[in-house]
Amino acid sequence: MIILAIETSCDETAVAIMQNGRNVLSSELFSQSDMHALYGGVVPEIASRNHAAVIGRLSELALKNAGISKNEIDAVAVTYAPGLIGALLVGVNYAKGLAVALDVPLVPVHHIRGHIAANYIAFPELKPPFLSLIVSGGNSLIVDVRDYTDIAIVGRSHDDAAGECFDKVARLLGLGYPGGPALDKLAQEFVVQDTDEPNYVLPRPGINGRPYDMSFSGLKTAVINIVHNAEQKNHALNEPALAASFTQAVSDILVPRVMTAAAELGRSNVAIAGGVAANSRIRADFVCAAEAEGLTLFIPPLNLCGDNAAMIGCQGYYEYLTGVRAGMNLDAYATMDVG
Ligand code: KG4
Repeated sequence: MIILAIETSCDETAVAIMQNGRNVLSSELFSQSDMHALYGGVVPEIASRNHAAVIGRLSELALKNAGISKNEIDAVAVTYAPGLIGALLVGVNYAKGLAVALDVPLVPVHHIRGHIAANYIAFPELKPPFLSLIVSGGNSLIVDVRDYTDIAIVGRSHDDAAGECFDKVARLLGLGYPGGPALDKLAQEFVVQDTDEPNYVLPRPGINGRPYDMSFSGLKTAVINIVHNAEQKNHALNEPALAASFTQAVSDILVPRVMTAAAELGRSNVAIAGGVAANSRIRADFVCAAEAEGLTLFIPPLNLCGDNAAMIGCQGYYEYLTGVRAGMNLDAYATMDVG
């Protein structure tokens, strides 16, 4: 079965051709991040306009690189929630047009379910049930994947998403947008001197009575205070040490929660997903913790951590198998629970 998949939830326009769920025939991506970097973050109107400008050509390219023609497509899958509403609408409307023109089913896909499915592409042996952490620019969630389309939320951030926190701290340090990769690189420059630990003291906030829920805004504020204090007192800031301390704090918030939730739910497989899963410190900490706990860890390669359409086509396949279809009245939604 061949699915053409479309992803336009934020600032990446992506089209992929997937075969039988997990086989990527082509996966095309047009990243707008340079255009948004000028403004220090994603400008929704600019994102929508650029999606509209490139989506047609990107679809043609995906078909050409997959070596198939339009009439071989069996279904069209599209991200319809959550994300920037104008950006999502471009993908949803293009997908509707294509599904009508080709007379094939239209399959709506939740963006976070897509991120989880990135692991199915990278690891053919991975099957539900498993526990998953999704950490991206807009979401930080721990979910129990009971089956391909049966997903329950175990923990969530009450304020900023982890990726948003990376982006804001990076902007404060003048590292540009998107900040996660630059902050990761800066943290790697941190050289251990007298101690083995990054040396800025930062909080690891939690939510009373909700052990798997997370909070990142207090951590972000603590970094802002350190930077402003140093500026006011004219003290030098050790930026690599601050980047390393911040990254360690994020990792310390994420890793123990996931490990404890996996133990409590009796899940022996853990899959990490989303743009922040590309972080080298967080990846390394998860590898160590999983080994210590005797869990099998799945982390997709970097190209499958960030937004892409292959993951949407993969999840679209499983949604299709369970009978999920959309009509021409399909709408886009800025927010929607994954479960
Ligand atoms: O999954 P994604 O591409 O888009 C969303 O669905 O949001 O995630 C983007 C987020 C951004 O906040 C970006 O700064 C962060 O992932 N990110 C990273 C790294 N690479 C991307 N954060 C930390 N370390 C990285 N290496």
